[in-house]
Parts: sequence; C-alpha cells; structure tokens
Amino acid sequence: MLTEQQKDTIKATAPVLREHGTTITTRFYQLLFEKHPKLLNIFNQANQKQGKQQRALANSIIASAEHIDQLESIMPVVEQIAHKHRSLGIKPEHYPIVGENLLIAIKDVLGDAATDDIMQAWEDAYQVIADIFISVEADLYEETEQQPGGWKDFKPFYIAGKVVESDVITSFYLKPVDEQPLPTFEPGQYISVKLDIPSETYTNIRQYSLSYKPNQSYFRISVKREDEHDPNGVVSNYLHNEASVGDLLDVSAPAGEFTLDTNSTKPLVLLAGGVGITPLINMLHTVVEQQPSRPVSIVHAVRNGDVQAFEQELTDLVLDHQHVNIYTILSHPTADDEANKHYHQKGFITYDWMKDHLPMDEADFYFCGPKPFMEAVMNHLNQHGVTEDRLNFEFFGPQEELETVQ
Ligand code: HEM
Repeated sequence: MLTEQQKDTIKATAPVLREHGTTITTRFYQLLFEKHPKLLNIFNQANQKQGKQQRALANSIIASAEHIDQLESIMPVVEQIAHKHRSLGIKPEHYPIVGENLLIAIKDVLGDAATDDIMQAWEDAYQVIADIFISVEADLYEETEQQPGGWKDFKPFYIAGKVVESDVITSFYLKPVDEQPLPTFEPGQYISVKLDIPSETYTNIRQYSLSYKPNQSYFRISVKREDEHDPNGVVSNYLHNEASVGDLLDVSAPAGEFTLDTNSTKPLVLLAGGVGITPLINMLHTVVEQQPSRPVSIVHAVRNGDVQAFEQELTDLVLDHQHVNIYTILSHPTADDEANKHYHQKGFITYDWMKDHLPMDEADFYFCGPKPFMEAVMNHLNQHGVTEDRLNFEFFGPQEELETVQ
C-alpha cells in the first residue's frame, strides 16, 4: 500500500518523468539487456531500434503515475498490454528484474533530484503497478489454458500452406504438430510466432493478426515483407524467402482486444490501409457467417493493384453476399490498374469520399493500417462527429498516439 505522502510524491515527480521518459526507458533497456541478455529472445529488437517500445513503456508508466490514486482508470490500457504480455509469455518472475533496472535508470537520469524518499515512493509504486499486471495476466493465462484446445505458452506448429497474396503479402496456414483442435478466438485477435532463424543470435517473436475466421483446423496469418535492410524485416523476409511448407515454428494462443462486437446490429465499416486488411478480412468472413444480414462496407486503401492482397477473396465474398460493399482506393495506380479501372477512388481517403459512400451516421467503424492512414480516418470520423463508442482501431506494433486535428 502506498501512503498518501508517497502518492503525492509520485504525482509531483510524474511531470519530471514525462520530460525524461524516453531517456529513462532507453537507459532502462540498456541496463536490462546488459545484465539479462537472454531477454533479447523475447523483445522485438526492431521496435527497440525505432524507439517505439521505449516510448510505449514510458507512456504507460507515466500514465500509471499520473493516475496512481485512481488506478482503475488505466485498466483498459493495462488489459491491452497484458494481452500482449500473455501472448509473449511474460511471467511474474520477470517483474522484479524490470523493476530493479527501471529504478536504477530513474536514479541515473534524475541524478541528485532522485532523493531517497522519491526513490522509495517509486519503488513502492512500481510494486503496486506490477501487482496489477501480474494479476490480470494470471487470469489471462488461466483463461487461455482452460479454453477447449487452449494452451499456456508456446506450442509447436508447422507451416501447412504458403500462398502468395500480392507482391508483398504472403499467407501462411499454420497447424499444430499435435493435430489437436484449435481454440476458438475473436476476429481481430493476433498470435505470437517464435522463430529460430539460423542467421540470428536470438529467437525472434512477432505478432500477426489472424486473417481468417475462427473454428478452422488452422490459423492463417498474412505477412507483409518489410525492407530486407530494415531490422523490422528480419522475420518477414525469412518467412517469405526461406520458410516452406513443413517447417516448424512456435505459436502462442490468440490474444488481443481489437475484436469485432457481433452483438451490435449497426452497419459495419471496415477501413484498411495496406496490410491492415489482415484483422479486418477476418472480421468480414466472420460477420457474413454469424450476422448474415448485417450491412458491411470494407474499404481497402493501398498503393496499387500489385500490392493489393485478397482482391479475389473479397470479390468472391461480395458475389455471395449482396449486402457487402467493397471499395478499393489506390494512391498510385499502375498503368494496368488504370486500364482495368481497377479502383473506386484514386489518391488518399478523404472526408467527402467517406461521407458519400459510408453510413457515417450509424455505423460501427473498425480501422487498421499505417499511422498516417489511421490519423486521416480518425480526423474524418471526428469531423463527422462519430462518437468514441463507434470507433475501434489497432496499431501494428507498440501502441502510439494518434495525432488528430481536434
Ligand atoms: C510490451 C508496459 C513489464 C516485456 C509492453 C508495452 C507496454 C509495456 C506499454 C507495449 C504494448 C504494445 O505493444 O502496445 C509494461 C509495464 C510493465 C511491463 C508498465 C511493468 C509494470 C514487463 C516485463 C516484461 C515485459 C516484466 C518481461 C521482461 C515486454 C515485451 C513487450 C512488452 C517483450 C513487447 C515489446 C516488443 O517486442 O516490442 N510492455 N511492461 N514487460 N513488454 Fe512490458
């Protein structure tokens, strides 16, 4: 338990932490990996190099500090992080290691300003916050393990199929080696995939959205090949270029809170930028099966027809389901795209286009894609006055702030 005085100390020092947040977490990760290099098997080094993970951790710790006397208000954020932690296999015994190095980093960066009282207050506050995470994660582990077909950590799978979907996206059909039935999941959820890549010192874990509906004998993920010179591209290039049918990889059970509400009967609008289509096409497959009369519009904004995945799969869906509308927006159509009139809109998604084509006043909106796409969509929806309860979105990778106009 924190004393009132400690809570005051935490709140008073939170602005200083906000100012130095990323410096502290950068120092923290440096210390953590120096002392515990095995943790490099768990953390995504590409996110580290881009500073995204440092920002995400700094933001969540500062948010916790600012709400230290009403921690229930940060529970939605805790839940979302806990899903990611559960999917990565983070355990209670990891928390003291993170706590110890975080406190050293705070002291290193704050220097003389970090008095004994301040440090004691932060140590106690970390314990309070860590206990919340540990308890939420314990519930998630239990739920996952007890679900029919569920399992706790990683389980061996093999690649049962590999299908090229576009110049940059390839789908992988993954089946468990033990051939047991798979647990069901919510469309929009992701799995973690753990790979031992021969050229890499550490194992690599990545999260991929499930791109096909639940209750199959396989999980389908659809992976975009990133730039091979970018650290972000290590896993995707390996999967695209080296991995083949029959290869083994480890998979954790589905996780995540960006999920389709199938109790809502409002029209559904799914807005995808590029590879952001993966969780949304799953939602589309699920909704036409579970809510066959619910009107759906799916918008796919991509650069051009060459990199547009699932065109045929979506076209087939529309043929079978009259109430599904599909729109393609190409920012840079090729000559072939132009010749075939292969799109509904050229350029980027605009407010006027959305207002003319989508049920803006009633629909539930789900969107996913690169940050500029999500910011544009969010701005247009804000401009229209769409209320927060109708907005659902997900970032690939560590959560970031959406910078909107309003
Ligand atoms: C991810 C916060 C403890 C390992 C994250 C994220 C946040 C976060 C905000 C980003 C989530 C996202 O993807 O949106 C925290 C807080 C902790 C804590 C506030 C303590 C109270 C731990 C511990 C470990 C850990 C004890 C294990 C050593 C990870 C890993 C990721 C992650 C591996 C994914 C990062 C990546 O690969 O990019 N955490 N975390 N975290 N956390 Fe934690």
